[in-house]
Amino acid sequence: MPSSDLMEKVVSLCRKRGFIFQSSEIYGGINGFWDYGPLGVELKKNIKDAWWRDMVRNPPLGPNGQEITMVGLDCSIIMNRKVWEASGHAAGFQDPMCDCKESKKRYRADQLEVFTGHPEMTPPLMYAFIKGDEDSLKAAVKKAEKAARSGGKKFTSAVASVSYMTIANNPDIRATVVGPDVDVPGTLTEARAFNLMFESHAGAIKDDDNLVYLRPETAQGIFANFKNVVDSSRVKVPFGIAQIGKAFRNEVNPRNYTFRSREFEQMEIEFFCHPSESRMWYEYWRDVRKNWYSTLGIKSEKLKPREQTSEELAHYSVGTTDIEYLFPFSDEHQELEGVAHRGAFDLTAHMTKSGQSLLYFDEDAWNRDATGRATNSFVTWMKGNPAAEEIGKYQFIPHVIEPSAGADRFTLAVLCEAYTEDKAPDSSGKMEERLVMKFHPRLAPIKAAIFPLVKKDGMPEKATALYRELKAHFNVQYDDGGAVGRRYRRQDEIGTPFCITIDGDTIKDDTVTIRDRDTLVQRRIPIGSVLTELRTLIG
Ligand code: GAP
Repeated sequence: MPSSDLMEKVVSLCRKRGFIFQSSEIYGGINGFWDYGPLGVELKKNIKDAWWRDMVRNPPLGPNGQEITMVGLDCSIIMNRKVWEASGHAAGFQDPMCDCKESKKRYRADQLEVFTGHPEMTPPLMYAFIKGDEDSLKAAVKKAEKAARSGGKKFTSAVASVSYMTIANNPDIRATVVGPDVDVPGTLTEARAFNLMFESHAGAIKDDDNLVYLRPETAQGIFANFKNVVDSSRVKVPFGIAQIGKAFRNEVNPRNYTFRSREFEQMEIEFFCHPSESRMWYEYWRDVRKNWYSTLGIKSEKLKPREQTSEELAHYSVGTTDIEYLFPFSDEHQELEGVAHRGAFDLTAHMTKSGQSLLYFDEDAWNRDATGRATNSFVTWMKGNPAAEEIGKYQFIPHVIEPSAGADRFTLAVLCEAYTEDKAPDSSGKMEERLVMKFHPRLAPIKAAIFPLVKKDGMPEKATALYRELKAHFNVQYDDGGAVGRRYRRQDEIGTPFCITIDGDTIKDDTVTIRDRDTLVQRRIPIGSVLTELRTLIG
């Protein structure tokens, strides 16, 4: 299936079956904001729960087989604005943007590309389109072809494009560019910096003193609480702090469904380690995070870790890997998550701005080296010997490895990956088209559906008892409406991995059938073992 068709089908299914709705749709919607419906909220919650369970409660063992220490946080969305001054977001969290004076549309200037139309036309025009957006490219090529035809030429497009940024500040060249949504040249403005943080005011008075920002990432709340966590939790470096929460960015060009939204959720880890071990931990997290997506059903050929080149890297970083996924809306892989080595950058910035020491004292190392000292307890030693140089040998600013994932982007990847059209037998055994969402059982919104074959002969009573037993443990559905074949189709379409049917034999011998969504195999098992069986199958 062409990928643009697939994207349209996913979007349509999401709306029809209650995964994702446009925010405030009854008022015409609002660009860049989305609501999760009854099934979407379960799917996204399962994703966040899987992340928390696999990364915070039960992370994989470390590179040398050691246990990993991870703790969680839930910080406020609005913080003292000095946090954003220290992090650099207040001054530097900017995208270059340009406006179209004709269409009144605003674009990310670094996401616009331009190509030259027919070179022999006077004047020779350039055409702009949005990078990675097939429709926008097609529209631009169409305009170039039309202009060439009207001048008696033929425009054959082997479109080699350059970034709009390379010409944005040259008014003469800009005057020849036809914008993505207009037919005349010269309507696009130069590129200007645009801060992506949403602003508000805390308190009754709307003045500069009360200016606050909605956080554009969850990470800074973790750095601002580093000392609180170390002092209160007895954690020792290396350890990680994790947070799941909303982030807000006033994106110039929200697009590709939920992929680039203005309100979204992040799942971030800041892992603090000794500078000498930071490369090892960077490689560890890069591999752990990529593997995590595969364990949840993302096919390896669609998943691509892309190591940033040395030119792309921030000056303080020894490495950053973007974990990318091939979404159907683009023929290039797009970022799902960034795993960044951030060095001592963030803690140093907050230490400088706040005036509070965020140095970590390695008490274990001090105790290891204590042989020969009068005491081997740091606290006792401190009381008698507050020698700064000696303490300094054991103090350092931890380096940070940051795996930063988007819950909404992964939800979208899971929806795209799950969408399948295949064939399955109807109730008379005839093969018919079916639409099935092949979610990994851990992520599926509904884990199992319970069907009484008919609404009589004791079957509803048995089915209700089983439903009540299971719903205490899983999200399950009771469905007694229509033929069993139709009930299967309904559950396939929302990705329910298991359907359990109570039939005449159940009444005789207390067995049920359990049907697998993907293989369509049906097995008989004792009704008393359904819960254990589901636990094993779901994981
Ligand atoms: N603390 C680092 C940080 O925030 P980022 O690459 O800007 O890094 C991390 O964001 C992740 O958050 C991205 O990989 C993506 O999954 C998600 N994300 C970022 N901007 C987003 C947006 N506008 N809409 C949806 N998800 C977004």
